[in-house]
Amino acid sequence: MPNTLDNSYIANGPWKPAIFEGKVAFVTGGAGTICRVQTEALILLGCKAVIVGRNKEKTQLAAKEMSILSQVPDSVLPIYGVDVREFDQLERAVALTVEKFGRIDFVIAGAAGNFIAPFEQLSANAFKSVVSIDLLGSFNTAKACLPYLKLSKGSILFVSATFHYYGVPFQSHVGAAKAGIDALSNALAVELGISGIRSNCIAPGAIEGTEGISRLSGAVSKDQMCSKIPLQRLGTTKDIADTTVFLFSDAARYVTGTVHIVDGGMWHLGTHFGREMYPQNLLVEDNAKL
Ligand code: COA
Repeated sequence: MPNTLDNSYIANGPWKPAIFEGKVAFVTGGAGTICRVQTEALILLGCKAVIVGRNKEKTQLAAKEMSILSQVPDSVLPIYGVDVREFDQLERAVALTVEKFGRIDFVIAGAAGNFIAPFEQLSANAFKSVVSIDLLGSFNTAKACLPYLKLSKGSILFVSATFHYYGVPFQSHVGAAKAGIDALSNALAVELGISGIRSNCIAPGAIEGTEGISRLSGAVSKDQMCSKIPLQRLGTTKDIADTTVFLFSDAARYVTGTVHIVDGGMWHLGTHFGREMYPQNLLVEDNAKL
């Protein structure tokens, strides 16, 4: 399945057209595979969106393609040159968003960094980089958007993972960051609920066609991966987009402080794709097999 949506998403999907008319989404990492499709679903349902990224060309191209998809000129604003580790850069992005669209209703804190690294080879700076992008970046995003979320009684969606539910090797940095994101979201649900703001997480499993799955699956074949997932298939970006739409929609108006795991039941097996090779996969010379 291609990693983009088209207009059949509305015609064939469970959502009513235009349910997000008049709403504005602020999405970090919005040019990336998963967050891009989350954004596409929102704009196909009438939302305007701002996608925030580091890379100028990638962010501009994604915004242009998404505006064409929505059939509404300039419905997606690209803001590039933003590193989520820097709060002032996010404040600038929020100011540009409000200047262009006047409000922020939905926030997706999606910018993330990941690589496979055994703890012994993980430098202090590498750990700090991933925790800073994933966790501090999520904090900065929510914090910078907060004044406008209060005005709109909006909703925040953090992108988490399942790596911290058990000890996935070579993901200590990401697992630590994502555990922090879950904790942050839960606290915000409690603190900001009284302002009418909801805060939830999505924890994607193995999503086909993403950079993450190609890095994490290593030498494991697609059939082998699917056999370890209760629903017997990899996830799609559309699976994540549909959960995103639900969580931002009025159907989820009483849902806050949750982590929605969208993984076909995979984490319940306590598995990771290198499990059959354990403990040989911990040997440094064998790491490429994970
Ligand atoms: N294995 C081990 N260490 C690694 C690494 C790898 N594959 N890739 C980067 N690092 C280390 C670097 O060596 C550096 O540490 P050092 O200074 O001790 O050498 C540290 O991470 C920071 O690297 P840097 O190149 O300065 O990148 P950055 O601060 O801009 O951080 C990363 C970005 C590291 C997360 C990078 O992987 C990235 O930008 N990835 C693209 C986004 C992404 O990962 N998407 C996947 C989403 S699932």
